[in-house]
Amino acid sequence: MEMEKLVSLCKRRGFLFQSSEIYGGFNGFWDYGPLGVELKRNVKNAWWTDMVTGHDDLSVAAGAPATYEMTGLDCTIIMHPQVWKCSGHYDLFHDHMVDCRESQRRYRHDQVRGRWVEAKEQRIFVSTVAETAQEQEDVERRALKYYNLRAKHADQLQWDGDFLCLTEISDFSQVLGPDAKSLNTLTEPREFNLMFKTIVGALAGEEGAAFLRPETAQGIFVNFKNVLDSTRVRLPFGIAQVGKSFRNEITPRNFTFRSREFEQMEIEFFCHPDASPDWYRYWRDRRLQWYTELGLAGERLRLREHDSDELSHYSTGTADIEYAFPFLPENEFGELEGIAHRGDFDLRSHMEGKLDPNTNPLELETDADGKPLWRGSGKDLSYRDDLTGERYVPHVIEPSAGADRATLAFLCEAYTEDEAPDEKGKLQTRTVMKFHPRIAPIKAAIFPLVKKDGMPEVARDIYAALKPHFNVFYDEKGAVGRRYRRQDEAGTPYCITVDGQTLQDQTVTIRDRDSLEQWRVSIDDCLAEVRQRIG
Ligand code: GAP
Repeated sequence: MEMEKLVSLCKRRGFLFQSSEIYGGFNGFWDYGPLGVELKRNVKNAWWTDMVTGHDDLSVAAGAPATYEMTGLDCTIIMHPQVWKCSGHYDLFHDHMVDCRESQRRYRHDQVRGRWVEAKEQRIFVSTVAETAQEQEDVERRALKYYNLRAKHADQLQWDGDFLCLTEISDFSQVLGPDAKSLNTLTEPREFNLMFKTIVGALAGEEGAAFLRPETAQGIFVNFKNVLDSTRVRLPFGIAQVGKSFRNEITPRNFTFRSREFEQMEIEFFCHPDASPDWYRYWRDRRLQWYTELGLAGERLRLREHDSDELSHYSTGTADIEYAFPFLPENEFGELEGIAHRGDFDLRSHMEGKLDPNTNPLELETDADGKPLWRGSGKDLSYRDDLTGERYVPHVIEPSAGADRATLAFLCEAYTEDEAPDEKGKLQTRTVMKFHPRIAPIKAAIFPLVKKDGMPEVARDIYAALKPHFNVFYDEKGAVGRRYRRQDEAGTPYCITVDGQTLQDQTVTIRDRDSLEQWRVSIDDCLAEVRQRIG
């Protein structure tokens, strides 16, 4: 599937728009259109239902080591700045960037690639940030321009070695930046914190400084004690949260895959340290199964366990659920979700030390090496098991998913081109979004075959009967074949048509989006039929 086709369908049919498009768009920000908002909402609802409200606290779930409880939270986007100090984000959540003095552009150090080339007795490194498929074309075009050569003299360019990442080049004096015309315009790499800073209240400057959360997880950790104290929940249990997160990505790219504003669906699962490896395995497998159940089956979905040298010091296991997004080079996968064994790292960080209310949390003391000292809340975040009397700091398993990435993967997986007969029975190429019915934005469309003979009235009655139960759509405009095509592009699994026979025997046809099979059911059975089929 070509990504351009999906991007164009998303705009044409109202799944996704560039943010502030009439002003030329705003890099890294995306808006969901009328179909997109339903799709993403269905993804989030499926997650919440399957992980939280639909979870049976009293039975042992398949593959789980024991029964467990699930509950939810909805925390603020702006939190006390000390939260980000203790989580490590203030000091450690950064990428390295390089700036170009000529083009005034900024690049992520590890995303600039290039090749050494020699011509006219000068050897230079031509760099690019083009997608992998276009990078050779881009460096060749720019090398020709630099050496003042015509395209027909491309054979004068002596390429030396394969593509390298800029991180492998130590001296930038012979580097041609991705948008530069002269050499040596890139600065040395510098750290760039990805958190968005804002000012709270009327206080100017650093005193009022705060951050937009880069993850929803920390809201859960800092409320751990509140949840314990306000509910009768016992370990093991999980707290779930869905909400916006913000990261000032240096180079947002690949549609919504890397955005600056996005939504996460996170669970912090608290358990006894001894049981944590079993719970880690349970969540890793449970989360993979969730994507499979919603249609991301097959070789484009995989689970990748991190090697031990990739793990944080406190973690005994991390796995990524990955999808082979079509914008990635062949055999490359992009992360959909990470499942991490976080030990007691987060609760301990928020617990240890005591915050002095007179200290600006962003200007804490540093140790002898100049590293900022982390200071926690000083609150006891340990757990006492009232059956055994044991007190301990729980270990945490964190399945952390991106709602936008999951939605994008479902869009990519759904996009299909096949052939379907038109009104005259001639096969025509059709574009169809084969969403799982649970996440399809519209569950059924209702059409009168023609706009006369009482058919619209019957169709409207069916629409009114179904509408309170799920999102349905009424359409009486244009040829029925065209109406089917529009619903195929919207991913509507069922189309219900009122025709001449309906007026005689009170039956309608139902058409299946994927198989194109059509069958008749009585008007009274429409609701039950669609409900049973969408699951
Ligand atoms: N609390 C752990 C955490 O935030 P992460 O791997 O940084 O872990 C979790 O993020 C998920 O959030 C990712 O797997 C991805 O789906 C989503 N995500 C992260 N950065 C994103 C971005 N810039 N744009 C869209 N989704 C993003």
